[in-house]
Order: sequence, then C-alpha cells, then structure tokens
Amino acid sequence: MTAARERSDAAAAAGPVIRPYRPADRDAIARICLLTAAGGGDATGVYSDDTLMPEVYALPYVDYAPDLAFVVVGGGGDEAPVLGYVLGVADTADFIEWYRREWAPGFRRRHPTPGAPTGRDPAYSEAQLLADGGDPERMRIPELDDYPAHLHIDLLPELQGRGLGRLLIDTLRAALAERGVERLHLGMDAANSGARAFYDRLGFHELPSSTPDAPRLGIGTR
Ligand SMILES: CC(C)(COP(=O)(O)OP(=O)(O)OC[C@H]1O[C@@H](n2cnc3c(N)ncnc32)[C@H](O)[C@@H]1OP(=O)(O)O)[C@@H](O)C(=O)NCCC(=O)NCCS
Repeated sequence: MTAARERSDAAAAAGPVIRPYRPADRDAIARICLLTAAGGGDATGVYSDDTLMPEVYALPYVDYAPDLAFVVVGGGGDEAPVLGYVLGVADTADFIEWYRREWAPGFRRRHPTPGAPTGRDPAYSEAQLLADGGDPERMRIPELDDYPAHLHIDLLPELQGRGLGRLLIDTLRAALAERGVERLHLGMDAANSGARAFYDRLGFHELPSSTPDAPRLGIGTR
C-alpha cells in the first residue's frame, strides 16, 4: 500500500472532522441549508427558487464572517465532502448594517416578487421569506446587548445524532469566547422539535422575547 493510500484510509477510519470554512465550501453550505430548511428536513421544491433559503439563512453569513463558519467533513480527511456546518456572527447589530448595505439590495433585485406557486404551501410562505430576506431588522432582538452573537447550524441526516452538533456549537462558542463575546442567541422554527430538544440538552434557555411561535434561545460562550 502506498503512503498516500495509507494516509487516506487512516483519515476515513478516523471519521468526520470539523475544520474552518473555506470559500470553496460555499456551494456545499447552500446545498446543506436547502436540504435541512423545512423544519430540519429537505426544502427542495418547497419554494419557487431553491436558492432562496440559502440566500437568507446561510450565504450572507459565510460572506460576512467566514472566520466564524465551521464545517463537518465526512471520513476521509479534511478534503472530504462537507456534510454540516455552524455559521455565526459575533455582533448581530453590525451584521444588520452590513446586510442592509451589502446583501439586501442584491437579494431584492434577484427576488423582486414571489414566483409561481409550487403546490407545497409552507407555513413560512414565500412572500414572508422574501420579506425577511430583504429586511435585516428582523434580526434586531431586544436582548441584543446581552446576547450579541447568533448562529445557524445544520447537519445532513447521515451525520445527525453522533455528537457532531454539540461539537460544532462548542467550536463556535470557543471562537466567540476568544473574541471576548460572552453570550449568543438563535431563533428557530417552532415546529422543529428535534432541534429544540438538542438546544435544551445543550443548556440553551429561552430569552424574554421568545414566544411559542418564534422561540428565541440563548447561552453563554464559556
Ligand atoms: C439539530 C442538529 C443540529 C443537532 O445536531 P446532532 O449532531 O444531531 O446532535 P448531537 O448528536 O450533537 O446531540 C447532542 C445532544 O442533544 C441530544 N439530541 C440531539 N437531537 C435530539 C433529538 N432530536 N431529541 C432528543 N435529544 C436530542 C442528544 O441526545 C445529545 O445528548 P447527549 O450529548 O447528552 O448525549 C442536527 O440534528 C440537525 O442539523 N438537524 C437538521 C437541521 C436542523 O434542524 N437545524 C437546526 C435548525 S434551528
């Protein structure tokens, strides 16, 4: 066996690993976002345009804060396919300003009006998704001074339930703590009961502005 083959076999046997985001991961991030965007399940074909969800909930994050994005790659070393991610911003207020300036105008140009109905009729309608994509103020929660950072996390089904979600969150918390950020928050789909169980297990708590329809959770970074 060659040395290179031995190295790649050893990497595959070692299983999935977490590494920092690279620009070449951008398309994989968009794909994973789409495949997990329907309450944790596949959102392909739910909206008239499959780029909508990633353009609101994933791609602006890797463009604004690539250094706070971490990916899980499958067994096979860090060149293996990307199968999950956590995306964070340290300062949501600053992200809102960046999004308003750099992201929202292009988003509105690309997606001026809802497309043809898909027959799927999601609770989170395409009209609402378009409105959210053009309006970063939706991210300005009342607790922002105390919980300035926020995150999104998604793993493809084959990697779920193996402890990688916890590892990704811990990786982001450590990176935020290193920057002096004390607390972070997230907003989630109330229908995603699996994600809620996960966050509860990790020690996230409800923020005062949380509602049953729009849960908002927070946690310290240390
Ligand atoms: C939600 C998600 C990020 C969790 O990551 P994961 O790797 O599956 O979770 P882990 O294996 O790290 O679980 C960590 C802990 O949470 C618990 N947990 C995770 N999912 C759970 C579930 N559905 N029900 C009950 N407990 C759960 C685990 O038992 C584990 O507890 P332990 O560490 O004490 O043993 C992942 O399943 C996922 O990406 N789902 C689809 C997309 C999604 O819903 N994203 C979140 C959008 S808000």
